[in-house]
Amino acid sequence: MVAGNWKMNGDRDSIVSLIEGLGPGVDQLTRCEILVCPPYVYLPLVAELIRSTDIELGAQDLDVRSSGAVTGGVSAAMLRDMGCSHVIVGHSERRTLFGEDDETVAAKFEQALDSNLLPILCVGETLEERRAGATLDVVSRQLDAAIDRVGADRMRTTTVAYEPVWAIGTGESATPQQAEEVHKSLRDRLASIDNVLADAIRILYGGSVTENNAESLFANENVDGALVGGASLKPASFTEICKAADIS
Ligand code: PGA
Repeated sequence: MVAGNWKMNGDRDSIVSLIEGLGPGVDQLTRCEILVCPPYVYLPLVAELIRSTDIELGAQDLDVRSSGAVTGGVSAAMLRDMGCSHVIVGHSERRTLFGEDDETVAAKFEQALDSNLLPILCVGETLEERRAGATLDVVSRQLDAAIDRVGADRMRTTTVAYEPVWAIGTGESATPQQAEEVHKSLRDRLASIDNVLADAIRILYGGSVTENNAESLFANENVDGALVGGASLKPASFTEICKAADIS
């Protein structure tokens, strides 16, 4: 899977050009599942633009509550209603800018599953945590919070995205070896709970993925795709990343 996280970027015109730019290149692909995650307000526009393609629609976040007096909130059911199949949960920007902790992220993860939305759980360490040798502890704590909340059985349809915070938007991707080390540890953690789960779940890498490093990242046994920020806003780059995933 290659998922594009557009974050808070774009306007009506640029989004139309972006989707039109993806069309011909990604239409040919047979193996790579492609997802785009626009800002909330553009979900209906993008749903319409991708209607006759295989591209899927995801949201970047959801509210932890299911309905009611929550000014500014958007629920999982609303996202389903607007055509989303997936939702990103626990992105590091949500954790940092909006103070979301593991518990909140786990509750959102559960909300998504309850509404038949497939959550993509983001995990990842900061630079300080990596320097302190805490990377594997941090990512397994973040993963465990979700597993503890929903149980191993319900994890099977979900996706995990390893996104080292120091690699997001910095132009400095994790090396293929660094990514594989963490992905393998996440897979091993899942296998220690349930082998079927470990095989079923996809683990994406995110953090400065471009058309130049995608192939070497995807060559790793435990890297099942990418969550792409900046490069997902450029149709040619995003298409090349999807092509690299399709042949890997
Ligand atoms: P980036 O963002 O590709 O711009 O580093 C990735 C992400 O935050 O999902």
